[in-house]
Order: sequence, then structure tokens, then C-alpha cells
Amino acid sequence: IITHVILTGGIGSRLWPLSRKSQPKQYLEFFDGQSLFEKTVARNENISNKTIVVGNIENYEMSNTIMSKFNKPFTHIVEAVPRNTAAAIAFAAFASKPEDILLVTPSDHLIEGTELYDFALQQAIALANQDYLVTFGIKPTKPETGYGYIEFENENVVAFHEKPNLQKAAAYLENGNYFWNSGLFCFKSGKFLAELEKQEPEVYLASKAVWEANKNGFLDYELSLNIPSISIDYAVMERSKNIKVVAAHFDWSDLGSFESVYDYLIQKDHPTDANRNIVIGTTKHTTFIGVKNCILIYTDDALMVLQKENSQEVKQVYQQLESIA
Ligand code: GDD
Ligand code: MG
Repeated sequence: IITHVILTGGIGSRLWPLSRKSQPKQYLEFFDGQSLFEKTVARNENISNKTIVVGNIENYEMSNTIMSKFNKPFTHIVEAVPRNTAAAIAFAAFASKPEDILLVTPSDHLIEGTELYDFALQQAIALANQDYLVTFGIKPTKPETGYGYIEFENENVVAFHEKPNLQKAAAYLENGNYFWNSGLFCFKSGKFLAELEKQEPEVYLASKAVWEANKNGFLDYELSLNIPSISIDYAVMERSKNIKVVAAHFDWSDLGSFESVYDYLIQKDHPTDANRNIVIGTTKHTTFIGVKNCILIYTDDALMVLQKENSQEVKQVYQQLESIA
């Protein structure tokens, strides 16, 4: 059995005003009228024979609406409170048989190149069948500090470094033997749980208790608070000795900030002016004077202009504006 596990937790606050609590990034019909969530399900439909969605109360209906388009049974695990990805993936593993292979994917990434994607998955599944925890490595193009870095020697992983500081990220980029961690994982359910139990027994035990008390996939709020909030990257990937990496040659973007949206759109020939300013969300005539590399975002209730390089600051703006978001 190959089970596609879709993680749908975040709201994409760095993409405000496009993305917001009531309309997280993965549900926006951003690309050819399809959401990233829907594209993720479609991309993994042929390779998997089961689907598990791990989400929360707030996005429960949105996920159901998209899943209903696919007309096939799926398991919906509904967190009462987010406890990060180590626990979210553990719930999916507890809901599976130890030998089932889990293909864990975020719901909010953009991946293009079906054949290259399928090829990478086949390699990953073969390694997962040999009991490895498999990551997918992307060739880095800049010293991004928001990603995990996989130090590799061929298929072997020397070390995994989650979210390094800028100095380290720059050294990794320069070195050449590092990939970005794409955020997709593939492993046998039982192997992941064994590794989690070994590396983070507290997360393992608390998640197990929560899962055992689930009511039709709905998890208990009070019990969930006992789970330490830690990502799979810190909890397992940085520590395990059983990791492999598959070099991913497909086009990948986590569209995590307007800078990555900008890079993606430019690559797709989105119109720009002579100073590489772009407009998202309106066909109104827009003129930029005396500014470069700016992005103007237009929505029904908000307008934002930002310098591409300052994209990380949108998160703070979002936090200040949460009342209208
Ligand atoms: N169900 C559920 N519950 N999903 C969650 C939770 C949770 O508590 N927390 C996060 N997620 C989902 C997010 O919605 C996203 O789809 C995925 O899990 C990864 O979480 P992020 O919060 O987006 O992680 P990140 O971007 O900081 O880092 C990860 O992704 C990078 C690539 O985009 C790491 O794996 C990095 O190593 C990696 O480079
Ligand atoms: Mg992310």
C-alpha cells in the first residue's frame, strides 16, 4: 500500500493579502482555476492507493470540498490544535499499517514536470522499501535560511541541517554538496514511528495517546496540548542515521513568500516593466516610476506594494492586521 499523506496546516501569512486565515494559500485558486491542494492530490493520485489528509478544524470544510472532486474514499485526521509536523505525520502513521509506505507532502507547494516527479517518487519508494527514510533534494540557488539543507554524498546523507543561519547557508551553497530539503518525505509508516520513538519519545507517546482517543479522526484538544510542538525536520531528520536523498529534477517552489512567487511568475513570462516591477491580481493599468523589483498585489479589500527583497516582512504586517484578515 502506498498512502499519500497531505499536510494542511499553515495559512501562508507571508502571502497576505492573497492568503489569509479564511483563505489559506493552499486553497486559493491561483493556478488555472485550481488550488495548490487540488494539484497536490491530482499529482499523487496515480501513484498512491490511499489518501490521508491531516488538517485542522478551521480548514476541515475547505479540504472536504476539494477532496469531494476526486470521488474516492480518504481518511481525514482533524487536529484540534496544531502541534507541528512530527505529530501530524505520526497520526497518519498510527492510522496506517507498519509496512504501508507513506508519501508525505505539503499541500501548498507548486511542483511541475510530471515525468520527473514520478521518476523521483519511484526511486524514493524503492529506498523506502529498503527501510530508509527518504527525502527529496532540490539544487539550491540562493542562501535561503527558511529551508532545511541536506549534506549528501551520492544517495547517502551525511547530515541534515534545518534552517541554518545566513552565514552557514551561504557556505552550504558555495560547497555544492548540499541540497535544499523539499519538504516531501517517503518511508514505511512503522520505520518512521520507530525512529520518532527513538529520537523524541515524548512526541511519540503523547501523539499515540491522542490518536488512540480519536473520535472518527477528530482529535482531542486537551490531550493534544501534551504533545511537544516540533517539526519532523528537527525531531527526526537532523538525528536519524537512516536517511537517504533522491535528487529531484522537477520544478519546485514552496511559494512561501512573494519573492518566490515573483521568481516563479517571471520564469513563467509574467509581464514586467523595464525595471522588472510586476502586478498581481488586477488588469488595471499600473505605472511604476523610479522603483525597481517591486510587486503590487491587488485584492478586493487590500492593496500592497512591496520591494521583492523585503518579502519576509509581510508576516509582521499580517500579524498587525489580523483583525481584518
Ligand atoms: N496538519 C498539520 N499540522 N500540518 C502542518 C502543521 C501541523 O501542526 N504544521 C505545519 N504543517 C504543514 C504546513 O501546512 C506545510 O504544508 C508543511 O506542513 C510544512 O510546514 P511548514 O511550516 O511550511 O514548514 P517550513 O516551510 O518552515 O519548513 C519545511 O519545508 C521546507 C520546504 O518548504 C521543512 O521541511 C524544511 O526543511 C523545508 O526546506
Ligand atoms: Mg513551508
